[in-house]
Amino acid sequence: MSNLDKLTVRDINAENKKVLLRCDFNVPLDNKRNITDTKRIDEALKTINYLIEKNAKIIICSHLGKPKGEYKEEFSLKPVAKYLSAKIDKDIKLANDVVGDSAKKIVSELKPGEVCMLENLRFEFGETSNDEEFAKNLASLADIYVNDAFGTCHRAHASTVGVTRFLPSACGFLIEKEISVLSKLKDSPEHPFVAILGGAKVSDKIEVINSLLEKVDIVMVGGAMAYTFTNALGYPVGDSICESDKISFAKDMLAKAKERDVKFLFPVDLKVGREYKKDTEFKIVDADKIPEGWMGLDIGPKTIKLFKEAISGAKTVFWNGPMGVFEWDNFIEGTLEIGKAVAESGEMSVVGGGDSAAAMEKLGLAEKMTHVSTGGGASLEFLSGKSLPAIEALQDK
Ligand code: 3PG
Repeated sequence: MSNLDKLTVRDINAENKKVLLRCDFNVPLDNKRNITDTKRIDEALKTINYLIEKNAKIIICSHLGKPKGEYKEEFSLKPVAKYLSAKIDKDIKLANDVVGDSAKKIVSELKPGEVCMLENLRFEFGETSNDEEFAKNLASLADIYVNDAFGTCHRAHASTVGVTRFLPSACGFLIEKEISVLSKLKDSPEHPFVAILGGAKVSDKIEVINSLLEKVDIVMVGGAMAYTFTNALGYPVGDSICESDKISFAKDMLAKAKERDVKFLFPVDLKVGREYKKDTEFKIVDADKIPEGWMGLDIGPKTIKLFKEAISGAKTVFWNGPMGVFEWDNFIEGTLEIGKAVAESGEMSVVGGGDSAAAMEKLGLAEKMTHVSTGGGASLEFLSGKSLPAIEALQDK
């Protein structure tokens, strides 16, 4: 069921070999450094367990946050190593460097079927600059490279692209699954195809909006992003987030939708608040009547009904971005209700983008979707039709 023309972990002989496995363990941590969403680690288990079964010596590497080339305790992969050890019921030694003496020693002591981890790749400057020397040093730790870090495939870094110049390479099961589902969405979706777009910024999603308008039958816009569009329609937005430099883009997209006969749905009513605060005073208003000094923080009940009706007839739904500030109970309803409608809709429901995936987990809806992507930027770039450099770099079948 793979749409990939790249070697996968099934195609390699990993027996007794040192396998450098790139994962995306860039997971959210709270202020006590507890992992608040383990999805990215859980989704990598299939490849890790497969390599254990094949008696590989597994060297896991990942980035976490943006430590900018130096060791910083708050970006250490210690919480990840601890969680992963418990998950696979094996002791995982974590090196205290990436390609230094500690990493070399731990790797040299690895036995078949054992797993170790390197420290955060971004403790080295050479990672994000895709430095050749660093990529070579990283590669020298292993015999084979497997990439399963789908969330990082839009980054051409040393551990995602550079290293493939020095080692035979393949992708893991997570990348295979992500590409398979997202390719179906991009290239041969069942119609009616509905896209739901939300979240804070239009500017992060310009290419994906443009590209989805060529594939979908209905597009609906909620979240803070909606105010840039409603402003383009001439509605007042009060103190809502609105990107004034994206209004002409929004107008172009409205014209493009009309030209292509794509139905563009906007909020017809909103829950507006006085301030950007959890317990701020709020009320429901029509979308074209946001009073001065108020800001849109969620979609309103009429909008929920309108959007739900459109979703119920869909065969394919793609959702990116929450409908409101779902982290706060007073403004959770839009995201929750639309989430439930998506979960119950059609044959294929795909959720992409970091915030949306977190919203689905929080609302307990993730299990009900066909697929919740582990990629934020990576899934949006792929759906925009861009090729992902880390996938391109892998060995062809
Ligand atoms: C992500 O969380 O989207 C990936 O891990 C990539 O992280 P980055 O945006 O810091 O490169």
